[in-house]
Amino acid sequence: MLICTDLRCDGRPDPRGVETLRPDIGWRIESDEPSVIQAAWQLRAACCDARSAAAIESWHESAWQEDANSQLRVWPEIDGFKLRHDGRYIWQVRIRDTMGRESDWSRTAAFEIYLSTEAFWQGAFITSQEKRRCLRLRRCFELAADDTLVDAVLRATALGVYELELEGSPISGDRLAPGWTEYHSRLLISTYDLTGLLLDSLSRGESTAQLDVWLGPGWHNGELMAQHGQPVYGERVAFFAELELSYASGRRERILTDESWQAAAGEHSYADLYHGETVDAAHVPEWGPAVRTPQDLTVLKMHDGLPVREQEELPVIQRIITPAGEVVLDFGINISGYVRFTVWGEAGDRVRYDHAEILDGEGNFYTANMRRARNTIDYRLAGGGEAETFRPRFTFQGFRYIRLLDWPGGPENARPGQFRAVVIHSDYTETADFHCSHAGLVRLHQNIVRGMKGNFVDIPTDCPQRDERLGWTGDAEVFAETALRLGDTRLFWRKWLRDMAAAQLPDGGIPHVVPDILTRLENGILTGYGACGWADAAVIVPWRLFERYGDRRLLAEHYPMMRFWVDYIRSRATDGVLWDTGFHFGDWLALDAEPGSYFGATPNPLTATAHYAWSVELLARAARVLGRDAEAEELTELHARIVSSFQNAFVGPDGRLHARTQTAALLALQFDLLTPSQRGLAIEQLLELIDAAGGALTTGFLGTPWLCEVLADNGHLDRAYDLLLREDYPSWLYPLSQGATTIWEHWDGIRPDGSLWSADMNSFNHYAYGAIGSWMHRVIGGIRFGDPCRMGRELIIAPHPGGGLIWADHALDTAYGRVSVHWEIVENALAIDVTIPPNCEAELCLPWSGTKLRLGSGRHRHEDRK
Ligand code: BGC
Repeated sequence: MLICTDLRCDGRPDPRGVETLRPDIGWRIESDEPSVIQAAWQLRAACCDARSAAAIESWHESAWQEDANSQLRVWPEIDGFKLRHDGRYIWQVRIRDTMGRESDWSRTAAFEIYLSTEAFWQGAFITSQEKRRCLRLRRCFELAADDTLVDAVLRATALGVYELELEGSPISGDRLAPGWTEYHSRLLISTYDLTGLLLDSLSRGESTAQLDVWLGPGWHNGELMAQHGQPVYGERVAFFAELELSYASGRRERILTDESWQAAAGEHSYADLYHGETVDAAHVPEWGPAVRTPQDLTVLKMHDGLPVREQEELPVIQRIITPAGEVVLDFGINISGYVRFTVWGEAGDRVRYDHAEILDGEGNFYTANMRRARNTIDYRLAGGGEAETFRPRFTFQGFRYIRLLDWPGGPENARPGQFRAVVIHSDYTETADFHCSHAGLVRLHQNIVRGMKGNFVDIPTDCPQRDERLGWTGDAEVFAETALRLGDTRLFWRKWLRDMAAAQLPDGGIPHVVPDILTRLENGILTGYGACGWADAAVIVPWRLFERYGDRRLLAEHYPMMRFWVDYIRSRATDGVLWDTGFHFGDWLALDAEPGSYFGATPNPLTATAHYAWSVELLARAARVLGRDAEAEELTELHARIVSSFQNAFVGPDGRLHARTQTAALLALQFDLLTPSQRGLAIEQLLELIDAAGGALTTGFLGTPWLCEVLADNGHLDRAYDLLLREDYPSWLYPLSQGATTIWEHWDGIRPDGSLWSADMNSFNHYAYGAIGSWMHRVIGGIRFGDPCRMGRELIIAPHPGGGLIWADHALDTAYGRVSVHWEIVENALAIDVTIPPNCEAELCLPWSGTKLRLGSGRHRHEDRK
């Protein structure tokens, strides 16, 4: 058996709205034979002009491509067959493997190209006559009675966030569309296929249909944007859509947003991402004509990321009456999303509740850490005896508990079964499993997974609950490697990196947050960007993405941004090599900070110069991959000069780092900034500092990701396990003893005595320290990716048992299939089971004997002895 399955175009199955004439394509190979490697592939494609898969023109075949890669292939040239704007295509692929076996043609997949060029758009942005925070829009339209509908596609976006219904049915599960981008340059068009819904209407004998739109401020003009008193993007919500109907006769019709639409105040009198929603279900809209509003259409781009969708529903696990006498419902875990409830009552009866992540030391509902975010849902019933089911449309919260403030007949009347917490996040596929014999580590891994879900609501955020929820570059940079293992997030990062490139400042600086709402003029000086370890995300995240997927095209696309950022540092660095200027967050939230301060003790020039060196090193690697050899040389030479300036500035005559912090030693070691003898001393220093801290970490955002890495790589695997398995404060496992279900912002968010870190910054869902996840996967689970140029096809299987663990199970669902490792210590032997998917190869490194073995695809079992 040799089959090609799971065909993807632009990273998606059967996508519509692909914005390039040379999309990338990929497929998975299934086989029951061992050691399968693709030798060549061939594609055939056809155009479906009549917008129906049945009406296929003749197939056009590409030449056989001698190529082992089966992912991220660029659409090949095919004689006499060109992809074009607004074209819809079907395609199949077949392969030959290195044994000369040939597969059949795969199942047929489809895609549609749509180039978002201003000239192609005919609709206008529309809004209501009076300025409103939330509104409804609608349009009825006729379907041709004398023709057969074959295709209906809706392309839509908004200034604000929207939801759509056709004839009262949701047209997709998307939430908070079109998401948050650098709106000044990128506003994303989503493509929805309405053919099925309209054919259903027609089959019921209905020849008219109605589109309904709910529109709220979202990220566009909500409170979020008013951080500095001014909305960043604009004052009004507005909607844009083009519905294209294609008939069997070849006739095509477009229904555009214009004055023919109706607008009205809807049931939402207020909505905001931070504050919640106020809704009157009895409200009857008074419809009037919509009006056009000017908007630059050149910012429209086809959606290049992942939509946000509902993922999971959680029941109430406990109804609590707190010491303060309040009715609180507990959903068991800290999530991002909202509550769906069902209620009966009279018109005007009220349901009102707010959200919290924790109960305080006394067991009372705790909202002080939400800061300004009110997170309150206020719903007035329509009444009339019918059950009313509600969920918010324009807001989401980070929470585990809700407090019922009002409920028909009083909060104590509410029954837990009337509520469900709904988890939302960007619609990525989860790709990692991790289990082992240590229950605490398994729970830590679950918390890392939840921390990612909670902070992947369209952009990578710091936290999902307080009046922040911003795309902090530093947090994303440290967590990216773990995120790329936990979920298939290539498109999620692609979207965010394009926003980062769009947000890059004219001097090459990268904002603290992307999309950028924080850069501003202070006393004539532009601030809010250019911090080490944060802005370095411009180099680190594209490189992480390349390491994981081998996506050369994306690396090439972002190379100019990466280069420009490095040039920015160079222009700010003394002699171009020592970065000792500018504002930095440094080793943010490290425990060696002055009491009450957020800034760790590691000196900024050291942290900044270390990150400068790392960014230059990664940029040099990127240059080499992209064939920019002269640049790679120049960068390598620059790197050597930065390293020697690092040694001159930060290492004393005794060969030891001046800065006596764990993070100083970690950065110097991890980024390879020391001579061999200095390295030995830095390792000594690191161990001394850990001992001096009672065997604990003292690191913050920039040091923590490297702790176990550096210890293990430098011969101290046991010390890495000691730190990871430590249960007392401070440690990764300590929050578990306080009931954590996600990763905290502070090591001591809840202190051992039950007191809380200051409410001004105490998130219980911050993924940064979850960066340890990738170490757990690579070192305990034993799966690493090899040379990125082999695009994830080369694996290194190298588990390192330790810490008293007796078994571990780790699996990654890659584009090629599932890679899995199970190891178990039985008496004096280590048994390892490995599965390698077709078209991949692995090097198995047995940890005790040091033996290395080459593995092809299939299942393998080996035993290792000391
Ligand atoms: C965020 C962080 C972020 C930081 C900048 C905080 O308010 O929550 O995670 O990186 O600001 O240091």
